[in-house]
Amino acid sequence: MADGLLAGRVAVVTGGAGGIGGATTRRLAAEGATVVVNDADEARLAATVDDVAAAAGGRAVPVPGDIRLTTTVTELADTAHGVAGGRVDILVNNVGDYRPNGRFLRTTEEDWAALHAINLEHVLRCTRALAPTMVERGTGSIVNVSTVEASRGIPANAVYSAYNAAVEAFTRSLAVELGGDGVRVNAIAPDLADTLQTPADTMLRGRDPALVRSWVPLARFGEPDDYADVILFLASDLSRFVTGHVIPVDGGTRAASGWYRRADGRGWTNLPDQP
Ligand SMILES: NC(=O)c1ccc[n+]([C@@H]2O[C@H](COP(=O)([O-])OP(=O)(O)OC[C@H]3O[C@@H](n4cnc5c(N)ncnc54)[C@H](O)[C@@H]3O)[C@@H](O)[C@H]2O)c1
Repeated sequence: MADGLLAGRVAVVTGGAGGIGGATTRRLAAEGATVVVNDADEARLAATVDDVAAAAGGRAVPVPGDIRLTTTVTELADTAHGVAGGRVDILVNNVGDYRPNGRFLRTTEEDWAALHAINLEHVLRCTRALAPTMVERGTGSIVNVSTVEASRGIPANAVYSAYNAAVEAFTRSLAVELGGDGVRVNAIAPDLADTLQTPADTMLRGRDPALVRSWVPLARFGEPDDYADVILFLASDLSRFVTGHVIPVDGGTRAASGWYRRADGRGWTNLPDQP
C-alpha cells in the first residue's frame, strides 16, 4: 500500500483532470489515495491518469463524462464503490463555471438553468450518491468548491454568485446534519486561479502584471496547487475537527475587499481613481 496522509483511502474528484481539479487529483494520489476521477474531457482525463501512474503514490481510475448527467453520476458512484469493496472516504465536488455570464437583466431562463446545472445540481446529486456509504461506515469528508463571489458582489455574474452561495449554505447545513455520522463537509472559495477557465494572461488582458499587487495582497494569481493543498487539508485527518466551514483561498482579496495598494507603491487607497 502507498504511504501518505491518504494511504488506503478512496477519493472521488469531479472535473478532476484539469485546473484546480487536476491538481487535486495529483495531490490526493501523491498522498496515497486511489482517486476516482471524473472529467468531460477524455484526452485530458487520460493524460492525468497517466501522470498519476507515472508518479509515486496512489492510483487514478477514470470515469469520463459530463457530470451534469445523472448517468455520469451513477457511473461515478458505481465505479467508486467498486474500487475497494464500497469504501469511499472523500468526495471533492469541483466542477463549476461562471459562464454564461452577462448583465442580469439580459439573462434568460435558459442561462439560469445552465448555471444551476453546472454549479449546484451535480453537487447535490454526487453528494446524494456518495454520502450514504460514508454514513454507513461512520467516516468521510466532502469538500465542495465554491467561489469568493458567493460572499462578495460580482457584477454580470449574479446568478453564478447565487448558486455558489447555495453551495456554501448546503455545505454548512449538511455538515450539521452529518456530523454525528462521522462525515465532515467543508468548502473552499477560490479567487484568481490561473487555470484553463481563467488563464491569468487572459484575465490581465495586457495589463502590467506588476499591478496584480495592487488588488491581491499576496501579489500574485493562484496556482492550481495552492487550492489543491487546502482541499487536501480538508479531505484528510489534519482537519478532523473542522466541519461546516468555507475557507477562502484567494491571496487575501476578500479580506482586502475595497482596498487597493496604490500604483505608486505609497500605501493603500479605497478610492477607485488611482492612476
Ligand atoms: N479559476 C478561478 O479563478 C476560480 C475562481 C472561483 C471559483 N472557481 C471554481 O473552481 C472550480 C474549478 O475551476 P477551474 O478554474 O479549475 O476550472 P477549469 O475549467 O480550469 O477546469 C475544470 C475541469 O473540469 C472539467 N469539466 C468542466 N465541465 C465539466 C462537466 N460538466 N463534467 C465533467 N467535467 C467537467 C474540465 O474538462 C476541466 O478538466 C469551479 O467550481 C470554479 O467555479 C474557480
